[in-house]
Amino acid sequence: MAILVTGGAGYIGSHTCVELLQAGEDIVLLDNFSNAKPQVVNRIKELSGRDFPLYAVDILHREGLEKIFAREDIEAVIHFAGLKAVGESVKIPLDYYQNNVSGTINLCQVMARAGCKKIVFSSSATVYGNSTDVPFREDSPLSTTNPYGSTKRMVEDILRDLCASDPEWSACLLRYFNPIGAHKSGLLGEDPNGIPNNLLPYIAKVAVGQLERLNVFGNDYDTPDGTGVRDYLHVVDLAIGHLKALDYVRTHKGAEAINLGTGRGYSVLEVVKAFEKASGVTIPYRIAPRRPGDIATCYADPSKAKKLLGWEAARSLEEMCADAWNFTRRQQSGESQ
Ligand code: NAD
Ligand code: UFG
Repeated sequence: MAILVTGGAGYIGSHTCVELLQAGEDIVLLDNFSNAKPQVVNRIKELSGRDFPLYAVDILHREGLEKIFAREDIEAVIHFAGLKAVGESVKIPLDYYQNNVSGTINLCQVMARAGCKKIVFSSSATVYGNSTDVPFREDSPLSTTNPYGSTKRMVEDILRDLCASDPEWSACLLRYFNPIGAHKSGLLGEDPNGIPNNLLPYIAKVAVGQLERLNVFGNDYDTPDGTGVRDYLHVVDLAIGHLKALDYVRTHKGAEAINLGTGRGYSVLEVVKAFEKASGVTIPYRIAPRRPGDIATCYADPSKAKKLLGWEAARSLEEMCADAWNFTRRQQSGESQ
């Protein structure tokens, strides 16, 4: 039996596919390539030394999904496919609700009909909204401040209702904090189109001279150095968390929300310093106004993941920066093209 990985060619999905294949799991990869490059699929094959079926299908396309479940023997689904840009979600909310919420409903309906009732879902720390009550625990109050966050919260509710309606279902709702870094090989990483919204890809583009300098969004927060604090975790640690969550849905029923973070926060300036150390490149920056919607501090209480999944993040901020730098340099030099 195989694991269907939706959004498997994306940033987190591609790293998870490599870990799954290396652990001996069979996979089926689904992606509509709206935010991924087709060559990523070859890199997953190269790194794992394994082959697998690929479906260029949109989760909104029910017939496409049905065909996959008719042809392949799918045991469980790891569901990454979705749109993820907070700012864009404010501008085109209907696209976000359709893709992330309707797409997931489609997927679950097709799964149910095929008798496949195990799902690992990519939720987000964004479901904790602008609460200041850190560290965030899974039972902390939820609130959302933008359509993207609302889609994650809605899908969590939908999966909880589904599990309550049918005791055969199991769903692991993984609330990621801030994944950064890249595969050690430098062949997989995060390579957003245009000007990056997120801190690490932005710093990486400054380091290779594609952007002039980093704008640090605010230095007057109530944090040790005044800049925003986040719980950054290595994307490979996050990928391994999905293998643990897969074991969990195989052996448990019902819905469970679980934080995946390190439990430790770093400020923007600490990340800049760590990147400079890893790369040997100075990152010019200037202090800019706060970015609307940002909170001062966000980090996880990761104890539930340790208790239920036996998972803990292992890789340091230095390693995250070194791997991100290695990937960016290779992209820049064309080695990874
Ligand atoms: P990504 O954009 O790199 O990967 C998502 C993949 O899904 C892409 O390859 C895209 O082409 C595909 N996709 C999108 N809509 C699709 C559709 N309708 N049908 C089929 N494929 C579709 O993003 P990522 O960073 O790898 O994130 C994966 C998941 O984790 C997303 O659901 C995201 O919301 C969630 N998440 C990401 C972060 C983060 O910081 N990266 C944090 C929290 C949660
Ligand atoms: N930042 C800058 N300059 C930049 C970009 C970011 O100073 O150019 C700062 C932000 O103000 C924040 C920190 O760097 O303090 C991290 O910002 P990111 O945009 O990298 O990440 P966020 O924590 O804002 O958001 C990310 C994802 C969301 C997700 C959230 C929680 O983008 O989708 O983590 O998981 F919801």
